[in-house]
Amino acid sequence: MREDGERDVTHEIDRAGRHTPPPAAQPEILTPLLRDRESVMVYDRTHELGPDALRAILEAARWSPSAGNSQPWGFIVGRRGDDTHAAMVELLSSANQVWAPSASAIILTLHQVATDEDHEIAYSDYAMFDLGQAVAHITVQARSMGLQVRQFGGFDHRAATERFAVPPHWAVTTGLALGLPAGPDDDTEMPDWVRTRARLPRSRLPLEGFVHSGKFGHPADFLTD
Ligand SMILES: Cc1cc2nc3c(=O)[nH]c(=O)nc-3n(C[C@H](O)[C@H](O)[C@H](O)COP(=O)(O)O)c2cc1C
Repeated sequence: MREDGERDVTHEIDRAGRHTPPPAAQPEILTPLLRDRESVMVYDRTHELGPDALRAILEAARWSPSAGNSQPWGFIVGRRGDDTHAAMVELLSSANQVWAPSASAIILTLHQVATDEDHEIAYSDYAMFDLGQAVAHITVQARSMGLQVRQFGGFDHRAATERFAVPPHWAVTTGLALGLPAGPDDDTEMPDWVRTRARLPRSRLPLEGFVHSGKFGHPADFLTD
């Protein structure tokens, strides 16, 4: 773990005890929309998200796949300057309160846990999975529009449930900040720790660490051939 709690895989040992070489960040193989996506912490505070842009971003969620086409997702949208946004900022963890308000919008995500308020029938086992996939679509759509997203779990979920009158068969799940990215030095109001963190290189486990064949823990042959 890095000092800021993030997982840094640069010096991790793999399961077989071998030293994992520093995973070369080689996302060039990816489609540019994925290659250039990153969880930005510094946004252009003057940028505003118009209704058409927001609609396009939420359409991306709408058209994502889900178990049995259950579509068990919900989104509460606050745009910088409106009451919903102001209420969301109050609910953020102190660290997230530093950077997230600079984004043009904050969106809280929800997934459905039961069919009705009595919790009689559990909803799809895959509801949270489906929500995650819908959010992934949002990140890609946002990127195609020149925007970036940083997702976050650091906020008071219970207070959010109360503040936004979320019924008991829905669960407030994550948040995301969405906006036009700015460079770490472009925002003089950001404290040093945010600028420093925004500059840290992104790191990932190597494919051999999580792609298996034959049995779990056996790296897929096509990776080692
Ligand atoms: C479910 C979830 C919760 C997260 N929570 C936070 C958070 O509370 N604060 C924060 O600054 N980043 C948060 N992140 C962002 C991650 O730290 C980020 O995605 C990760 O460092 C990888 O960075 P990258 O997307 O730029 O590759 C969260 C991401 C996810 C998906």
